[in-house]
Amino acid sequence: SWNTGNIIDEQVALIREQVGDGQVICGLSGGVDSAVAAALVHKAVGDQLTCVFVDHGLLRAGEAEQVEKDYVQATGIRLKVVDAQERFLNALAGVTDPEQKRKIIGREFIRVFEQAARELDAERHVDFLVQGTLYPDVVESGGGTGTANIKSHHNVGGLPDDLKFTLVEPLRTLFKDEVRALGLALGLPEEIVWRHPFPGPGLAIRIIGAVDRERLDVLRAADLIAREELTSAGLDRDVWQFPVVLLADVRSVGVQGDGRTYGHPVVLRPVESGDAMTADWSRLPYDLIARISTRITNEVPDVNRVVLDVTSKPPGTIEWE
Ligand code: XMP
Repeated sequence: SWNTGNIIDEQVALIREQVGDGQVICGLSGGVDSAVAAALVHKAVGDQLTCVFVDHGLLRAGEAEQVEKDYVQATGIRLKVVDAQERFLNALAGVTDPEQKRKIIGREFIRVFEQAARELDAERHVDFLVQGTLYPDVVESGGGTGTANIKSHHNVGGLPDDLKFTLVEPLRTLFKDEVRALGLALGLPEEIVWRHPFPGPGLAIRIIGAVDRERLDVLRAADLIAREELTSAGLDRDVWQFPVVLLADVRSVGVQGDGRTYGHPVVLRPVESGDAMTADWSRLPYDLIARISTRITNEVPDVNRVVLDVTSKPPGTIEWE
């Protein structure tokens, strides 16, 4: 029978056996899978593990801090933070095509992670790379294993030959709910353990139009309000994801304060789903939607309209890009 304590003991023993006294690297994305995988490996081999967090500046409000402060405090993990915000913004400047955004972000992510891995390897010869692969990922990809291939983004290739690490995948036999239970048992912050799925390219694919710092700040502010209100309504676990999308290239007329405004609409896209393959729009209470709308238009400069996406998947996708 399934028991959190047993799973942890079993995985810790397996990791120790695989890793021996080798050095291990793990990329943290801010999501639950990499966070739990790293925490398990840390429990097994302690400071033989070094985590790398590439801050691409496309996360939501407070998420980078949760990794850098709360997660490190809860686990005692050694973390190398790479501030790559400028680099990603420069690479994305003027780009509006969704697939182009994904390609650029995937490419830059690999380059930055590779550089960090090289530096660490020079310091303390690294043999192993931790990945938060879950059982459904294993089944989906035909069960193959062996070489390093960072899977945190779509359209991302593997690491170059001279950086061939052996994979450590302590979550390979587990489902998402089991991973969450392990995360809680390992003492990880609830905000990380219960985080909704979030796309690798982050807020870049929730800005319809080119990405820049100002637009990211506007979207972050609107997104934070939606999350705060969902949480205080006690409905976090009733939705699968709640993308908030900024229609940065669209303007609409409004009347606010002293007169006419010409601002941007924000789209609320709360969905229910089991596996993201199909989804339906969440029938959130109207008074919650109303609170979110009022707060966003009052508190977020440049936003004068909030709309609700009532499209299922198919035909719509969950994300707008
Ligand atoms: P769609 O929009 O295709 O999304 O219905 C299905 C699920 O995948 C997530 N998503 C991504 N995740 N990189 C990711 O890591 C991506 O480029 C990407 N695009 C979409 C989306 O958030 C949803 O959970």
